[in-house]
Formats: sequence, structure tokens, C-alpha cells
Amino acid sequence: MQTTTTIEETRKLVKDWKRQGLTIGLVPTMGYLHEGHASLIARARKENDRVVVSVFVNPTQFGPNEDLEAYPRDFAHDCRLCEEQGADLVFHPEPEEMYQDACTYVNIRTLSDTLCGKSRPVHFSGVCTVVSKLFHIAAPDRAYFGEKDAQQLAIIKKMVKDLDFDLEVVGCPIIREADGLAKSSRNTYLNAQERQAALCLSRALQKGKALAKPGLDTKTLKNVIREEIEKEPLARIDYVETVDALTMQPVEAIDRPVLTAIAVYIGKTRLIDNFSYDPEVQA
Ligand code: PAF
Repeated sequence: MQTTTTIEETRKLVKDWKRQGLTIGLVPTMGYLHEGHASLIARARKENDRVVVSVFVNPTQFGPNEDLEAYPRDFAHDCRLCEEQGADLVFHPEPEEMYQDACTYVNIRTLSDTLCGKSRPVHFSGVCTVVSKLFHIAAPDRAYFGEKDAQQLAIIKKMVKDLDFDLEVVGCPIIREADGLAKSSRNTYLNAQERQAALCLSRALQKGKALAKPGLDTKTLKNVIREEIEKEPLARIDYVETVDALTMQPVEAIDRPVLTAIAVYIGKTRLIDNFSYDPEVQA
């Protein structure tokens, strides 16, 4: 496995592979990798000749009072995990390498007005900008993203369509701890008491999922989820919302494929989780 820090050396490797007719899978990450990332890399390994993992804590997707400085980092551990999963290249640039004096950003409308986009106004512009750059640098045939960040996945799929990127976006299932908590690099912020409290997210979604059926009004669904989370004293709800799975706009009833997504503060840590429901498939 090789590591690069510059765009130029990464491009050179990628161009060599392309010249040989090899396919490339890209797994964009912010590092501090866990089993969720490992599952993306393993899938990319199966479906491509070469696998590139980017490890870059992207400053442009953090708001002014968010956790950019505190975001956990452990590059040696990340490299070990990438190697174990059979990655060929880890691209690990510094912010100056990625942005220099950049003043061009990629913005996506409507899909980013709800859910996390509403609570984190600059977030998806930063995500779309860095992901576009990574697509240009690594020139992947396929790019892999987790379904835990369901709005991010929907936004990247739409961006790829709108901007005619010639690649396939592959969504991969949420990986959970044995007790149900969705794997996240931010779980590391939780102390023992908060770790226990964080189970209210998956528990509430399980309750919601059990209730979901075609035609159900989403107010009922959201109330059940809210009530379950509100039982937990350390939890503070940012949002509980059910949206159209493609447009990310709120819906009043389950009359199409929907995403029910939640963001909840456990102490100071903001966690997200979700489930999808397609009335035609899951009824
Ligand atoms: O999901 C993430 O870790 C990040 O948002 C991504 C896609 C790597 C862009 O920085």
C-alpha cells in the first residue's frame, strides 16, 4: 500500500492505473477509521482493481462552533486498517494542499435545506466541494459512502447526476455496535454514561420502524420516536424528521420511499442515525 500527500503524486499513480485499463474505487473519509469505513473499503476492494482511500479532515464542512479542532485523528491506525482491508493507496493531504487560496465552492440547493443541512448551514457545501475535488483527483469508477449519512449520500448522488461526473455512487449499509449504536468516529467523544444514553437513538428508530406502514401519517411516527428519545435525560433532540428519500423534503404520510432521520445531542456530542422505508418493498 502506498501513501501520498500531494494532488500531483496521486494523479500520477491514478493516471498510470487508468493507462493500464484498471478500474478505481474511491472511499472518501475523514479518518479515525472504524468498522463502518472498513466495510466500505472491503466493498470497494471486491468491485475494483485499485482502491484509493482519502483521509482528510475537511475544514470547509465544519461550522464556526463545531468540532474541527477536536475531531479525532490517528493516521497510523488508519493506515493499518486500510492495509488490512486491501487498499492500494491512502491519500492524506494537508488543508493547504487541498484549498490553497480557493474561492470556488459547490453548492446544492433544496436537498441541503432540511435535516443536517438546516442545523449545519455550511456543511453540505463543504462536503460537495471536497468530494468533487476528490473525484477529480482520484478519477474513480465507483465511490463508496455509508448510509448513516443518508442525506450526504442523497446529495452526492444528485450532485454526480447534475454535474455529469462519470462514476457510480455506491451506498453501503450502516454498521452498528452489538448493542445497536451506529458506528461513528464521534462515538469516541462519549463518556461511559453518555455511551449508554446514546442507545436511545437506535432504540427510538427501532420503535419507529416497527410502526412504519404504507399510508401512515409521519406525525405519529415522529411522535413515537421523539417520546422514546425524551425518556433519556442526557439526550437533546436536534431534529426528528421523515423526508422523501430522493428530494429530502418532509412528507406527511408514507406514500413513497422515505427516510426517517434523527440528530440528537448526547451531552455535547451530536449523533445521527436513520432508517429507510419503501412502502412498495417493505409493506
Ligand atoms: O462522510 C465523511 O466522512 C465526509 O463527509 C466526507 C464524505 C469524507 C467528505 O469530507
